[in-house]
Amino acid sequence: MTKFLFVSDLDNTLVGDDQALEELNQKLKQHRQEYDTKIVYTTGRSLTLYQQLRDEKHLLTPDALVTAVGTEIYYHVGDHPDPTWSEQMASGWDRETVINTASHFADLTPQPETEQRPFKVSYFLSEVVAADVLFELEDLLQKRGLSVRLIYSGSKDLDIIPRRGNKGAAMQFLRQNWGIEATQTVVCGDSGNDIALFSVDKERGIIVGNALPELLRWCEINPADYRYLAKSHYAAGILEGLYYFGFFK
Ligand code: GLC
Ligand code: MG
Repeated sequence: MTKFLFVSDLDNTLVGDDQALEELNQKLKQHRQEYDTKIVYTTGRSLTLYQQLRDEKHLLTPDALVTAVGTEIYYHVGDHPDPTWSEQMASGWDRETVINTASHFADLTPQPETEQRPFKVSYFLSEVVAADVLFELEDLLQKRGLSVRLIYSGSKDLDIIPRRGNKGAAMQFLRQNWGIEATQTVVCGDSGNDIALFSVDKERGIIVGNALPELLRWCEINPADYRYLAKSHYAAGILEGLYYFGFFK
């Protein structure tokens, strides 16, 4: 076995089955000790909500933590986010205009304050009207010259973030800084905001068995032999995939 970069979403991917999580944690911990394998969590949560989850579940301390859908990267909780990454997020980003533009849409309900971040503006949006609203909002944002990315997940959450910021781009930034090949990297997810993780290079992808239709549909349209659809759910699905790709034996 050799060193690899382990990158996983938290809610409903790594977290969801406490027993399987414990088993995966043990294996990853040992692998990190023996081979210097790196562990990264990429979540839509803010640092505040990450800390809440960390209080509730047993999570290994990651080598890096990517929060707010890829817009912030931390190496230690309590530190400032990686300034190089923040600088990249800042270029061309105009938070006020994003908020003003979104305020024209009555169907967009702002998420709690903790989830509004310097480079992420988030709303709740019902699935019934989502397609129309997303189309019109994107059009209006473009007309105002904003280079942003709209990410709709779980049939309810809309995140508006800088075009260069997403989970995949943050993963690639860390992978390249650490000098790890795409083929020695495994990315795991279950929902819409994880799609970016699966579309950078030839990173090995694990889609857990409980993945949402939005991600499964995307996988059908973009098939790749370096992506594995696990049968098992949550951490058990991740374990299944790690054996499938030969990272675990
Ligand atoms: C997490 C975040 C929320 C975001 C969602 C989808 O639940 O707390 O702000 O919209 O992930 O990315
Ligand atoms: Mg998730």
